[in-house]
Amino acid sequence: MKSLLTILALLLAAGLRAQPAPRSVSPAAGRFVFGPATTLAADRELLPLARYAAPYLGCRVEERRTADGAVVLLLDPTLDLPAEGYALDIAPERILLRAPSLGGVFNGLQQLFRLLPAEVYACRGLEAGTSVACCRIDDAPRFAYRGMMLDLARTWIDAPALKRYIDLLSYHNINKLHLHLSDDEGWRIEIRSHPELAAVGGFRGGDSPVRPVYGKWDEKYGGYFTQDEMRSLIDYAALRNIEIIPEIDLPGHSRCIASVRPEIRCNYPPDTVSTNGYDYRSAWCVAREENYALLDDILGELCALFPSEYIHVGGDEVETSQWERCPDCRALMRRRGLADAHALEDLFMERVAAILARHGKRPAVWNEAAKSGRLGREARVYGWESVRASLDATAKGYATVVMPGESFYFDMRQSPEEDGHDWAGIFDARKTYGFDPAGCGFTPEQMKHVIGLQGAFFSEAYISHDPERPDYLDYMTFPRICALARIAWSGNDEGWEAYRRELTDAHYDRMAAMGIRFRLFPPRLEVRDAMMHLSTDDGSELWQVADGGAPERYRGPVPAAEAPRMRFFSRRATARSPYVAGRSYYRTIAPEVAITTSMGESRRFPYANAERYRGLSRTTRACRQGDWVLYTFAQPVRCREMFLQTGNRQLPKTIVTTGRVEVSYDGRTFHPAGELRQGSATLHPDRAVRAVRIVSTCDDNGTPYVTIQPPRIKPAL
Ligand code: ACM
Ligand code: ZN
Repeated sequence: MKSLLTILALLLAAGLRAQPAPRSVSPAAGRFVFGPATTLAADRELLPLARYAAPYLGCRVEERRTADGAVVLLLDPTLDLPAEGYALDIAPERILLRAPSLGGVFNGLQQLFRLLPAEVYACRGLEAGTSVACCRIDDAPRFAYRGMMLDLARTWIDAPALKRYIDLLSYHNINKLHLHLSDDEGWRIEIRSHPELAAVGGFRGGDSPVRPVYGKWDEKYGGYFTQDEMRSLIDYAALRNIEIIPEIDLPGHSRCIASVRPEIRCNYPPDTVSTNGYDYRSAWCVAREENYALLDDILGELCALFPSEYIHVGGDEVETSQWERCPDCRALMRRRGLADAHALEDLFMERVAAILARHGKRPAVWNEAAKSGRLGREARVYGWESVRASLDATAKGYATVVMPGESFYFDMRQSPEEDGHDWAGIFDARKTYGFDPAGCGFTPEQMKHVIGLQGAFFSEAYISHDPERPDYLDYMTFPRICALARIAWSGNDEGWEAYRRELTDAHYDRMAAMGIRFRLFPPRLEVRDAMMHLSTDDGSELWQVADGGAPERYRGPVPAAEAPRMRFFSRRATARSPYVAGRSYYRTIAPEVAITTSMGESRRFPYANAERYRGLSRTTRACRQGDWVLYTFAQPVRCREMFLQTGNRQLPKTIVTTGRVEVSYDGRTFHPAGELRQGSATLHPDRAVRAVRIVSTCDDNGTPYVTIQPPRIKPAL
């Protein structure tokens, strides 16, 4: 019997290890079998959770505390378990799930789902005869705060998409959803006492005073949540053990509200000139007393709407130069004896904290707002800039959410050639998984102030993708958020290789059943005997695609001579990997080229910089219809591909928003060669090229200039 139990323990250990992993698993003999008579039994308080679970398990719900042949949910506040902990007892005659809190019951249900076939997530009910091995699981999370932040300001995400995402987070025991509801580019929540904030600030472009820094220019687009819609989302999330924490980013990142209410800014001319963002136009005046009345209206409504104990009030990346020039702010500094403009931010945040306190809430802030230490210790700090930022906040005694961008900003790209930003780093799930606060230098005293971990998806670059397709958000966040959920729930003691196996052997199928279009790790490409060999160990299908052709299944090694035109990738159900290719695929040439434009050349950032400094070469103004950028080559250039880009890679601002491309083979006559997409175009010339020209068909790009990039040219083969 003992050896049978040992084997069972090993089997369970392999099968149970999941996202996240439970603390203690004791296997027992036998199995619980689901059938047509299986019910979900719960008392009144747990009926909503039983109804939540019913479609997954395909069971009827009955109001009872015990029942044979049932999955029994029991809420017992006297249970000696940590908050959100649970005890799951699976016996042949019934499954008993007990927890001291609703969150604990929810976490236990998720663990039960993970023991079942992945199809549980398809919500079609379990096949009759589905069984689960008997065991006893005692579990509780490592961190009370396991969060994810979504930036709705830069890219609007509507209620159905957000509900879907809440479901996906909840399957992973993420319990906080931080919504970045305002920024320079959008205001996404109705304020009933000031309806114009959302009605106007929720839409940019077209005739909106909110100038679109990103992407589209002529078209008005966007959206916002009414308070009723948000209340429904709050309830939807709460049932799934997720607390929504709203953020209104103050006093910086406020250009959108300042576009609707220009008087909140320091006493300077109205915002009629385009800006690249993050400048003097994006902050509130600290000295204007009426601003605090407006903030009281706004924050008061948010405090009433959101049950969360904390309201996030931003505090990051505040431009202070306008305060130094504002007579009122300067007078305030003198009156208060403040040494510098940064002290004004402290003063502003103190006022905001007092407003929140009056409404019964505490402030949550980005780490910059806690740097001086003047903010009260009731505040919660989000350490995004670096690990050091969280070390500093915890040393000062602030409850801190640790989320350094280099491991937790999921808008960063996952390998060099993929989509996404790179300013905080290029990393995949392995780096997120490898993050261990215990190894970051926190003293035991500081560690007591680490309340948890959070991922973030800032969405400036999301707009460069078709917003109708949710796959970019999925691809960027999964499986990195699985790794975050794992380390926040139970740590990373099993090591990367074991964890990766869990992902590929168990969790990939689950994510597919959840409908997540997640990222697979890239297949392995090796060159041996002048052949390219592709392999993978994650059960995915291998594919190859030659430039200009359609993807085909990989049937075996490909001659290395094909490398400059061949890319490979893998697919598995809803998921796909990034492309992999040999080095020669990416090889470019840099023929001598003269760049000229009708938009003038910035003296500070001349075109000569284009080669040396990525993206720091600029025109003197934004584009108007008929404006052009001309690339003239010293010698005719033979190439198989020429990529022309305005703006910075993956950041669709400072681009020629709409335009066409023309190519010349003799330097005099130009021929149409296609339209710009997101400010760029790829040409495949069949002859040597003397010059190419981008011609603007738009009358602005929302910013003060166009960024010029050198052409990226792949040699002819
Ligand atoms: C931030 O990334 N500015 C919080
Ligand atoms: Zn001012």
